[in-house]
Amino acid sequence: MSEHPFLRACRRQPVPHTPVWLMRQAGRYMAEYRAVREKLGFLELCHHPAAAAEVTVTAARRLGVDAAIIFADILLILEPLGVGLEFASGDGPVLHRPVRSPEDVRRLAPYDPADALAYVYEAVRITRRELDGKIPLIGFSGAPFTLGSYLIEGGGSRNYLLTKSLMYEHPQAWHELMSLLAGLVNGYLRGQVAAGAEAVQLFDSWVGCLAPEDYRRFVLPYTRAAMAGLSPETPVIHFATGTSGLLEAMREAGGDVIGIDWRIDLDRAWQRIGLDVGIQGNLDPATLLAPVAEIRRQAADILARAAGRPGHVFNLGHGIFPSTPVDHVIALVDAVHELSVR
Ligand code: CP3
Repeated sequence: MSEHPFLRACRRQPVPHTPVWLMRQAGRYMAEYRAVREKLGFLELCHHPAAAAEVTVTAARRLGVDAAIIFADILLILEPLGVGLEFASGDGPVLHRPVRSPEDVRRLAPYDPADALAYVYEAVRITRRELDGKIPLIGFSGAPFTLGSYLIEGGGSRNYLLTKSLMYEHPQAWHELMSLLAGLVNGYLRGQVAAGAEAVQLFDSWVGCLAPEDYRRFVLPYTRAAMAGLSPETPVIHFATGTSGLLEAMREAGGDVIGIDWRIDLDRAWQRIGLDVGIQGNLDPATLLAPVAEIRRQAADILARAAGRPGHVFNLGHGIFPSTPVDHVIALVDAVHELSVR
């Protein structure tokens, strides 16, 4: 398995074709997923290891991708903190008891992911068994900043004003919160690896809202701590969006592969993070709504920018939209394989 093109690309070794997988490859755009969701709520599905494994494997097989990602959610790690996590249908996640003050931060009790998140590890074990050595399995976690933003805002946000207020007004409490999250994330990622994940991705989806200097002072050390001790045995993909101002700092924080969105050309981004790390991306997920000829054209452009250099993992710049036609997604996977044959 360690010679699989996805894992070889993560280590920047030559591959027969560019490996491709897609963020949110198991999701509402796929009828098989919607059928499972008719029987189980989203959190119920996440908490049900056999069902989560089925959803993971079904999506990976249907698409013919080069890696599976465990079906779970970045917010599961926040549930045992007692914040009242709920996925209200159509509205995205809500945390009913957000963390807004230093007192709230101090009330948070660290816990052992091996107990409270054992169901995710079980899903990883079942999925590995069902994948049967055909493609690698990626584990994942949210990064401390993005998790912290959900904790503080109580859900998604546009400007992250509550998050930034806590950061500036109560830096000590901020550092305590980031430190607690970094410890949980690190334990959780190690647990997924021990359960069989062959690579991990750290999602810092919303960190692009920060000024570079704030990223370095308030986030970078904790992102680094979250990844500590994983690589090089298990490749770590460090992903975020809107990071044109942060690429060098993200690279400094760590990761064998840096994940980028579509707002920057892949070749320019790779030059900036350095050709001695891998890169993942970076098709605009909205492109998957376009005619297949356009999808192929844009896939070819990204592959041309990667120029056959070892270390490129093809992906979208963010997750697949629910309105995406499945046959377009399959056409993209086929195009990447066909256009990148060495
Ligand atoms: O990629 C995969 O196939 C693996 C599964 C996965 C999900 N969420 C399933 C999911 C992964 C890797 C995630 C990560 C995640 N979750 C992130 C980081 C990636 C990103 O998108 O930036 C974030 C920010 C979340 C938090 C989250 N979960 C939000 C904001 C939402 C609501 C938005 C939406 O699409 O509904 C979710 C729900 C969610 N997570 C769904 C899925 C398939 C849809 C829920 C449903 O079935 O109704």
